[in-house]
Amino acid sequence: DTGAYERAFDAAVAADERIEPRDWMPDAYRATLVRQMAQHAHSEIIGMQPEANWITRAPSLRRKAILMAKVQDEAGHGLYLYSAAETLGTSRDELLDKLHSGRQKYSSIFNYPTLTWADVGAIGWLVDGAAITNQVPLCRCSYGPYARAMVRICKEESFHQRQGYELLLALGRGTPEQHAMAQDAVNRWWWPSLMMFGPPDDESAHSAQSMTWKIKRHSNDELRQRFVDICVPQAESLGLTLPDPDLRWNEERGHYDFGPIDWTEFKEVLKGNGPCNEQRLTQRRRAHEEGAWVRESAAAYAARHTSRTDG
Ligand code: ACO
Repeated sequence: DTGAYERAFDAAVAADERIEPRDWMPDAYRATLVRQMAQHAHSEIIGMQPEANWITRAPSLRRKAILMAKVQDEAGHGLYLYSAAETLGTSRDELLDKLHSGRQKYSSIFNYPTLTWADVGAIGWLVDGAAITNQVPLCRCSYGPYARAMVRICKEESFHQRQGYELLLALGRGTPEQHAMAQDAVNRWWWPSLMMFGPPDDESAHSAQSMTWKIKRHSNDELRQRFVDICVPQAESLGLTLPDPDLRWNEERGHYDFGPIDWTEFKEVLKGNGPCNEQRLTQRRRAHEEGAWVRESAAAYAARHTSRTDG
Protein backbone atom coordinates (compact mmCIF):
# COMPACT_ATOMS: atom_id res chain seq x y z
CA ASP A 1 0.00 0.00 0.00
CA THR A 2 1.87 3.06 -1.28
CA GLY A 3 -0.61 5.31 0.52
CA ALA A 4 0.68 4.26 3.94
CA TYR A 5 4.30 4.77 2.86
CA GLU A 6 3.43 8.15 1.45
CA ARG A 7 1.71 9.20 4.67
CA ALA A 8 4.75 8.12 6.69
CA PHE A 9 7.03 10.11 4.36
CA ASP A 10 4.83 13.23 4.59
CA ALA A 11 4.68 12.93 8.39
CA ALA A 12 8.46 12.59 8.63
CA VAL A 13 9.00 15.69 6.48
CA ALA A 14 6.38 17.63 8.45
CA ALA A 15 8.08 16.66 11.73
CA ASP A 16 11.46 17.83 10.40
CA GLU A 17 12.85 14.31 10.54
CA ARG A 18 15.50 13.22 8.06
CA ILE A 19 14.72 10.96 5.13
CA GLU A 20 17.46 8.31 4.84
CA PRO A 21 18.55 6.25 1.79
CA ARG A 22 16.60 3.09 2.75
CA ASP A 23 13.37 4.96 3.55
CA TRP A 24 10.53 4.96 1.06
CA MET A 25 10.35 8.25 -0.87
CA PRO A 26 8.27 9.49 -3.81
CA ASP A 27 9.96 9.00 -7.19
CA ALA A 28 9.74 12.73 -7.88
CA TYR A 29 11.46 13.54 -4.56
CA ARG A 30 14.31 11.20 -5.50
CA ALA A 31 14.53 12.69 -9.00
CA THR A 32 14.58 16.26 -7.67
CA LEU A 33 17.37 15.41 -5.26
CA VAL A 34 19.44 13.70 -7.94
CA ARG A 35 18.95 16.74 -10.20
CA GLN A 36 19.93 19.29 -7.57
CA MET A 37 22.74 17.30 -5.94
CA ALA A 38 24.27 16.37 -9.30
CA GLN A 39 24.15 19.98 -10.44
CA HIS A 40 25.73 20.98 -7.15
CA ALA A 41 28.50 18.35 -7.42
CA HIS A 42 29.22 19.31 -11.03
CA SER A 43 29.48 22.97 -9.99
CA GLU A 44 32.11 22.12 -7.41
CA ILE A 45 34.38 20.35 -9.87
CA ILE A 46 33.84 22.70 -12.81
CA GLY A 47 34.38 25.52 -10.29
CA MET A 48 37.98 24.38 -9.85
CA GLN A 49 38.86 25.64 -13.33
CA PRO A 50 38.49 29.43 -13.11
CA GLU A 51 40.65 29.61 -10.01
CA ALA A 52 43.16 26.94 -11.00
CA ASN A 53 43.89 29.32 -13.88
CA TRP A 54 45.81 31.50 -11.36
CA ILE A 55 47.75 28.90 -9.34
CA THR A 56 50.91 29.22 -11.44
CA ARG A 57 50.70 33.02 -11.32
CA ALA A 58 49.85 33.61 -7.65
CA PRO A 59 51.87 36.61 -6.45
CA SER A 60 53.55 34.88 -3.48
CA LEU A 61 54.22 31.42 -2.08
CA ARG A 62 51.66 32.09 0.67
CA ARG A 63 48.93 33.01 -1.80
CA LYS A 64 49.79 30.02 -3.95
CA ALA A 65 49.55 27.58 -1.02
CA ILE A 66 46.20 29.05 0.01
CA LEU A 67 44.80 28.88 -3.52
CA MET A 68 45.94 25.29 -4.05
CA ALA A 69 44.31 24.25 -0.78
CA LYS A 70 41.11 25.99 -1.79
CA VAL A 71 40.93 24.39 -5.23
CA GLN A 72 41.57 20.97 -3.63
CA ASP A 73 38.72 21.64 -1.19
CA GLU A 74 36.38 22.17 -4.16
CA ALA A 75 37.35 18.75 -5.53
CA GLY A 76 36.59 17.29 -2.11
CA HIS A 77 33.17 18.97 -2.05
CA GLY A 78 32.41 17.42 -5.43
CA LEU A 79 33.35 13.99 -4.07
CA TYR A 80 31.16 14.30 -0.95
CA LEU A 81 28.24 15.34 -3.14
CA TYR A 82 28.69 12.58 -5.73
CA SER A 83 28.83 10.07 -2.85
CA ALA A 84 25.69 11.55 -1.33
CA ALA A 85 23.94 11.40 -4.73
CA GLU A 86 24.96 7.73 -5.10
CA THR A 87 22.87 6.89 -2.02
CA LEU A 88 19.84 7.64 -4.23
CA GLY A 89 20.66 4.75 -6.53
CA THR A 90 22.56 6.55 -9.26
CA SER A 91 26.23 5.99 -10.07
CA ARG A 92 28.99 8.55 -10.32
CA ASP A 93 29.78 7.37 -13.86
CA GLU A 94 26.22 8.04 -14.90
CA LEU A 95 26.26 11.53 -13.39
CA LEU A 96 29.59 12.44 -14.97
CA ASP A 97 28.36 11.13 -18.29
CA LYS A 98 25.34 13.44 -18.05
CA LEU A 99 27.59 16.40 -17.25
CA HIS A 100 29.92 15.64 -20.14
CA SER A 101 27.07 15.24 -22.62
CA GLY A 102 25.36 18.44 -21.44
CA ARG A 103 22.30 16.65 -20.03
CA GLN A 104 22.90 17.98 -16.51
CA LYS A 105 23.73 21.55 -15.61
CA TYR A 106 26.35 23.17 -13.42
CA SER A 107 26.19 26.67 -11.94
CA SER A 108 26.05 29.56 -14.38
CA ILE A 109 28.75 31.40 -12.44
CA PHE A 110 31.59 29.19 -13.61
CA ASN A 111 31.14 30.24 -17.23
CA TYR A 112 32.82 33.59 -16.64
CA PRO A 113 36.56 34.15 -17.14
CA THR A 114 39.13 35.01 -14.45
CA LEU A 115 40.95 37.89 -16.11
CA THR A 116 43.18 39.16 -13.29
CA TRP A 117 44.54 38.03 -9.94
CA ALA A 118 41.86 40.13 -8.23
CA ASP A 119 39.25 37.73 -9.67
CA VAL A 120 40.48 35.12 -7.18
CA GLY A 121 39.52 37.56 -4.41
CA ALA A 122 36.18 38.44 -5.97
CA ILE A 123 35.31 34.76 -6.39
CA GLY A 124 36.14 34.05 -2.75
CA TRP A 125 34.23 37.04 -1.43
CA LEU A 126 31.20 37.06 -3.74
CA VAL A 127 30.87 33.62 -5.33
CA ASP A 128 31.73 31.65 -2.19
CA GLY A 129 29.73 34.17 -0.15
CA ALA A 130 26.68 33.52 -2.33
CA ALA A 131 27.33 29.78 -2.11
CA ILE A 132 27.34 29.92 1.71
CA THR A 133 24.14 31.97 1.80
CA ASN A 134 22.47 29.34 -0.38
CA GLN A 135 24.04 26.32 1.32
CA VAL A 136 23.75 27.01 5.05
CA PRO A 137 19.98 26.35 4.90
CA LEU A 138 20.72 23.12 2.97
CA CYS A 139 22.31 21.77 6.19
CA ARG A 140 18.65 21.44 7.31
CA CYS A 141 17.54 19.77 4.08
CA SER A 142 15.13 16.84 4.58
CA TYR A 143 17.45 14.32 2.89
CA GLY A 144 19.98 13.14 5.49
CA PRO A 145 23.07 12.44 3.36
CA TYR A 146 22.78 15.80 1.55
CA ALA A 147 22.23 17.74 4.78
CA ARG A 148 25.22 16.09 6.48
CA ALA A 149 27.53 16.68 3.49
CA MET A 150 26.58 20.36 3.59
CA VAL A 151 27.77 20.86 7.17
CA ARG A 152 31.39 20.23 6.33
CA ILE A 153 31.16 21.98 2.98
CA CYS A 154 29.84 25.14 4.61
CA LYS A 155 32.68 25.22 7.13
CA GLU A 156 35.21 25.06 4.32
CA GLU A 157 33.30 27.59 2.22
CA SER A 158 33.48 30.05 5.12
CA PHE A 159 37.25 29.82 5.05
CA HIS A 160 37.18 30.36 1.27
CA GLN A 161 35.01 33.43 1.66
CA ARG A 162 37.33 34.91 4.28
CA GLN A 163 40.42 34.36 2.13
CA GLY A 164 38.73 36.17 -0.77
CA TYR A 165 37.75 39.05 1.46
CA GLU A 166 41.26 39.29 2.89
CA LEU A 167 42.79 39.18 -0.60
CA LEU A 168 40.56 42.05 -1.76
CA LEU A 169 41.34 43.98 1.41
CA ALA A 170 45.07 43.70 0.68
CA LEU A 171 44.55 44.89 -2.92
CA GLY A 172 42.13 47.61 -1.85
CA ARG A 173 44.76 49.03 0.51
CA GLY A 174 47.55 48.62 -2.04
CA THR A 175 48.66 50.86 -4.91
CA PRO A 176 46.05 52.76 -6.96
CA GLU A 177 46.51 50.12 -9.70
CA GLN A 178 45.82 47.31 -7.25
CA HIS A 179 42.75 49.09 -5.93
CA ALA A 180 41.50 49.58 -9.49
CA MET A 181 42.09 45.90 -10.28
CA ALA A 182 40.04 44.87 -7.20
CA GLN A 183 37.23 47.25 -8.18
CA ASP A 184 37.18 45.96 -11.75
CA ALA A 185 36.91 42.35 -10.54
CA VAL A 186 34.01 43.21 -8.21
CA ASN A 187 32.29 45.08 -11.05
CA ARG A 188 32.45 42.00 -13.26
CA TRP A 189 31.47 39.36 -10.62
CA TRP A 190 28.67 41.19 -8.81
CA TRP A 191 25.75 40.58 -11.21
CA PRO A 192 26.67 36.99 -12.11
CA SER A 193 26.85 36.27 -8.33
CA LEU A 194 23.27 37.49 -7.91
CA MET A 195 22.24 35.15 -10.74
CA MET A 196 23.66 32.15 -8.86
CA PHE A 197 20.53 32.10 -6.69
CA GLY A 198 18.46 31.09 -9.71
CA PRO A 199 15.52 32.69 -11.53
CA PRO A 200 13.07 35.00 -9.73
CA ASP A 201 10.52 33.16 -7.58
CA ASP A 202 7.68 33.54 -10.06
CA GLU A 203 9.79 31.85 -12.74
CA SER A 204 11.37 29.18 -10.54
CA ALA A 205 9.94 25.88 -11.78
CA HIS A 206 10.96 23.73 -8.84
CA SER A 207 10.89 26.04 -5.80
CA ALA A 208 7.34 25.47 -4.54
CA GLN A 209 7.60 21.68 -4.59
CA SER A 210 11.15 21.65 -3.24
CA MET A 211 10.11 23.89 -0.36
CA THR A 212 7.15 21.64 0.48
CA TRP A 213 9.58 18.72 0.64
CA LYS A 214 11.98 20.84 2.71
CA ILE A 215 14.79 20.28 0.23
CA LYS A 216 14.92 24.05 -0.17
CA ARG A 217 14.22 26.07 2.96
CA HIS A 218 14.03 29.54 1.39
CA SER A 219 13.10 30.87 -2.03
CA ASN A 220 15.64 32.08 -4.59
CA ASP A 221 14.66 35.75 -4.13
CA GLU A 222 14.73 35.51 -0.35
CA LEU A 223 18.33 34.22 -0.37
CA ARG A 224 19.38 36.72 -3.03
CA GLN A 225 18.08 39.57 -0.84
CA ARG A 226 19.88 38.16 2.19
CA PHE A 227 23.12 38.09 0.19
CA VAL A 228 22.75 41.70 -0.99
CA ASP A 229 22.09 42.83 2.59
CA ILE A 230 25.26 41.09 3.79
CA CYS A 231 27.46 42.42 0.97
CA VAL A 232 26.70 46.15 1.10
CA PRO A 233 28.39 46.84 4.46
CA GLN A 234 31.24 44.47 3.58
CA ALA A 235 31.90 46.39 0.35
CA GLU A 236 32.02 49.59 2.40
CA SER A 237 34.66 48.20 4.75
CA LEU A 238 36.65 46.97 1.75
CA GLY A 239 36.60 50.49 0.33
CA LEU A 240 35.01 49.16 -2.87
CA THR A 241 31.69 49.95 -4.53
CA LEU A 242 29.07 47.62 -5.96
CA PRO A 243 28.17 48.34 -9.61
CA ASP A 244 24.50 49.14 -9.09
CA PRO A 245 23.25 52.77 -9.07
CA ASP A 246 19.88 51.61 -7.67
CA LEU A 247 21.35 50.06 -4.56
CA ARG A 248 19.96 51.84 -1.50
CA TRP A 249 18.62 51.09 1.97
CA ASN A 250 14.85 50.78 2.15
CA GLU A 251 13.78 51.73 5.63
CA GLU A 252 10.28 50.33 5.22
CA ARG A 253 11.35 46.92 4.00
CA GLY A 254 14.40 46.76 6.23
CA HIS A 255 16.43 45.61 3.22
CA TYR A 256 18.56 47.07 0.44
CA ASP A 257 16.72 47.70 -2.83
CA PHE A 258 18.71 46.75 -5.90
CA GLY A 259 18.48 47.25 -9.65
CA PRO A 260 17.08 44.84 -12.26
CA ILE A 261 19.03 41.69 -13.07
CA ASP A 262 19.74 40.90 -16.72
CA TRP A 263 17.86 37.60 -16.97
CA THR A 264 18.54 37.42 -20.71
CA GLU A 265 22.21 37.03 -19.92
CA PHE A 266 21.39 34.31 -17.36
CA LYS A 267 19.30 32.37 -19.87
CA GLU A 268 22.00 32.63 -22.52
CA VAL A 269 24.60 31.26 -20.10
CA LEU A 270 22.27 28.35 -19.23
CA LYS A 271 21.81 27.61 -22.92
CA GLY A 272 25.57 27.26 -23.29
CA ASN A 273 26.28 30.69 -24.72
CA GLY A 274 28.22 32.21 -21.81
CA PRO A 275 31.79 33.45 -22.31
CA CYS A 276 33.43 30.17 -21.16
CA ASN A 277 30.84 27.36 -21.42
CA GLU A 278 32.63 25.60 -24.22
CA GLN A 279 36.06 25.92 -22.67
CA ARG A 280 34.86 24.59 -19.29
CA LEU A 281 33.19 21.49 -20.73
CA THR A 282 36.03 20.75 -23.14
CA GLN A 283 38.56 20.96 -20.31
CA ARG A 284 36.37 18.76 -18.06
CA ARG A 285 36.00 16.07 -20.73
CA ARG A 286 39.74 16.14 -21.39
CA ALA A 287 40.55 15.82 -17.67
CA HIS A 288 38.17 12.85 -17.47
CA GLU A 289 39.77 11.11 -20.44
CA GLU A 290 43.27 11.76 -19.15
CA GLY A 291 42.25 10.28 -15.79
CA ALA A 292 41.07 7.00 -17.33
CA TRP A 293 44.30 5.20 -16.43
CA VAL A 294 43.91 6.19 -12.77
CA ARG A 295 40.38 4.76 -12.64
CA GLU A 296 41.50 1.59 -14.41
CA SER A 297 44.45 1.12 -12.05
CA ALA A 298 42.27 1.67 -9.00
CA ALA A 299 39.71 -0.84 -10.30
CA ALA A 300 42.42 -3.41 -11.09
CA TYR A 301 43.94 -2.97 -7.66
CA ALA A 302 40.55 -3.30 -5.96
CA ALA A 303 39.77 -6.46 -7.96
CA ARG A 304 43.10 -8.06 -7.00
CA HIS A 305 42.66 -7.08 -3.39
CA THR A 306 39.15 -8.60 -3.30
CA SER A 307 40.20 -11.85 -4.93
CA ARG A 308 43.11 -12.21 -2.48
CA THR A 309 40.98 -11.67 0.60
CA ASP A 310 38.37 -14.01 -0.84
CA GLY A 311 40.63 -16.82 -1.36
N1 ACO B 1 23.06 28.06 -12.79
C1 ACO B 1 22.63 27.07 -13.60
N2 ACO B 1 21.35 26.61 -13.58
C2 ACO B 1 20.50 27.19 -12.70
C3 ACO B 1 20.90 28.21 -11.82
C4 ACO B 1 22.23 28.65 -11.90
N3 ACO B 1 22.71 29.63 -11.13
N4 ACO B 1 19.83 28.56 -11.08
C5 ACO B 1 18.79 27.81 -11.48
N5 ACO B 1 19.20 26.98 -12.46
C6 ACO B 1 18.38 26.04 -13.22
C7 ACO B 1 17.79 24.95 -12.35
O1 ACO B 1 18.70 23.88 -12.19
C8 ACO B 1 16.57 24.57 -13.14
O2 ACO B 1 16.96 23.82 -14.29
P1 ACO B 1 16.54 22.27 -14.52
O3 ACO B 1 15.07 22.18 -14.34
O4 ACO B 1 17.02 21.94 -15.87
O5 ACO B 1 17.27 21.49 -13.46
C9 ACO B 1 16.10 25.90 -13.68
O6 ACO B 1 17.25 26.73 -13.70
C10 ACO B 1 14.98 26.53 -12.87
O7 ACO B 1 15.43 26.98 -11.60
P2 ACO B 1 14.72 26.62 -10.21
O8 ACO B 1 13.36 26.06 -10.46
O9 ACO B 1 14.80 27.81 -9.33
O10 ACO B 1 15.67 25.43 -9.72
P3 ACO B 1 15.99 24.94 -8.24
O11 ACO B 1 14.76 24.84 -7.42
O12 ACO B 1 16.83 23.73 -8.37
O13 ACO B 1 16.88 26.14 -7.60
C11 ACO B 1 19.21 26.48 -6.99
C12 ACO B 1 18.15 26.47 -8.12
C13 ACO B 1 18.87 27.57 -6.01
C14 ACO B 1 20.57 26.73 -7.61
C15 ACO B 1 19.15 25.11 -6.28
O14 ACO B 1 19.26 24.05 -7.19
C16 ACO B 1 20.21 24.92 -5.23
O15 ACO B 1 20.11 25.45 -4.13
N6 ACO B 1 21.25 24.10 -5.53
C17 ACO B 1 22.29 23.75 -4.61
C18 ACO B 1 23.39 24.76 -4.61
C19 ACO B 1 24.26 24.71 -5.83
O16 ACO B 1 24.07 23.96 -6.78
N7 ACO B 1 25.30 25.51 -5.85
C20 ACO B 1 26.24 25.47 -6.92
C21 ACO B 1 27.03 26.71 -7.02
S1 ACO B 1 27.94 27.06 -5.57
C22 ACO B 1 29.47 26.34 -5.68
O17 ACO B 1 29.64 25.36 -6.26
C23 ACO B 1 30.64 27.04 -5.04
